[in-house]
Amino acid sequence: MAYFLPTKIVFGEKTFLKIFYELKERKVKKPLLVCGKHFTSTMHFKELKKNLKGMEVFSRIEANPSTASVDKAAEMMNEKSCDAVIGIGGGSVLDAAKVVACMKNFSGSCESLYEKIRVKEKVPFFALPTTSGSGSEATKYSVLTRSSGMKETLKDDLFYPEAAIVDPELTYSMPASVTAATGIDAFCQAVEAYWAATSMPETDEFAEAAIKLSFKTLPKVVNAPDKSSRHDMALASLTTARAFSNTGTTACHTLSYAFTKYYGLVHGFAVALTIPSFLEFYSESTEKCLAICGFFGVNTIGEGKQKILGLMREVGAPTRLREIGCKKKDLQKIIELSLADKLGNPRNHSAEDLEKIFEKIF
Ligand SMILES: [Fe+2]
Repeated sequence: MAYFLPTKIVFGEKTFLKIFYELKERKVKKPLLVCGKHFTSTMHFKELKKNLKGMEVFSRIEANPSTASVDKAAEMMNEKSCDAVIGIGGGSVLDAAKVVACMKNFSGSCESLYEKIRVKEKVPFFALPTTSGSGSEATKYSVLTRSSGMKETLKDDLFYPEAAIVDPELTYSMPASVTAATGIDAFCQAVEAYWAATSMPETDEFAEAAIKLSFKTLPKVVNAPDKSSRHDMALASLTTARAFSNTGTTACHTLSYAFTKYYGLVHGFAVALTIPSFLEFYSESTEKCLAICGFFGVNTIGEGKQKILGLMREVGAPTRLREIGCKKKDLQKIIELSLADKLGNPRNHSAEDLEKIFEKIF
C-alpha cells in the first residue's frame, strides 16, 4: 500500500489559535468540544468559550476511555445537533473524539462498530494533543476499553482528523509522570514503526528521526523541562505518528494491554516493558534492530538493549515484571491475552517465546 495520511498538519508554538481559522473555513457553527475534566480549567478553554459561542462541551472522557463514554459524547453531539468535533487532550481524549465524530445520526452503539464500521454521516474532526506521545492526532486508530474490560483497537480511514494542530504550549503543564509515560510511548511507537514488517521508505524516514529525537529529548523533558525540550518532544511525537499511522504497531503494544488491564500500568510504561526484549527477539528476522542500535551510537543488540533500559530508568519506567506487581502464576493469563498477531510483527511470537521473554525480565 502506498503511504497515506490525509490529515492537514499544523505545528508550532501558538498554533492553537489556528483552530478558529479551520472551523471558519469549514463553516462550523456548533462544534462539540471533547476533552478531559482538567482542560476546562485552562486558559485555552476560556479562549475557546470566548470565541465559539455555539460550542457544546463534553468533558467526561477518562483515561483508557470506555465505549460507553464514546456513546455518551455521541449522544450529546446528536441531541445538540453539533456540526464538528474538536478533541483536545491526550491520547484517550483523541481516540474517543475521533470515533464520536463518525457517529453523527448513527443509531447503533460504539460496541457495534467492532463488528463492522458502518458510518452514516461524519462531521469534521479536529485534533489538538495536550501530551506528546500518543500520536492519535495523525492516525486512523482508536483504542477503547470494551465492556469486557479489554482494550481493543478500532481502525478506519474515516477516523483521520481533518486537521491536527500540534501546539507545544498545550503540553507545558503536563506533570513529569505524564510526560514520561506519554513520551516513552512515542519513543516505542517509533521503534515499532521502524522494525515493522509493514514499514516503507516514508515511514522509515519519519521513524528514524523520531527515535533519535525522542531518545535525546526524553530525559531532559521529563526531569528538567523547558520550552525547547517541550518543542522537540511534541515534534518527535508528531513525527512518530506520521510513521506508525501507516505501519501500525507490533507485539509490544499487544502485550501492553494485558499489563494495563491486570496491573493498571500506564500505557507508555506498559509498552516499554517489553521493547528491549523484542529488540533482541526481532533481531533474528530483521536487520532493522541493529540499525536502531546504531541510532543510539552503539553496534550490538546487547548494547542497544542497555541504552533503552537506561532511558527507561531515567524517566522512571519499570523494567521488570515483578516491579509492576506481576506474580509468576499470572504469566499464563498474560500470555493468553497476548497471542494475537499484528500485521506489522516482523516475526510471530508463540506462547513459548513469551515464556522465555518473561523469564528474562521477571
Ligand atoms: Fe501507544
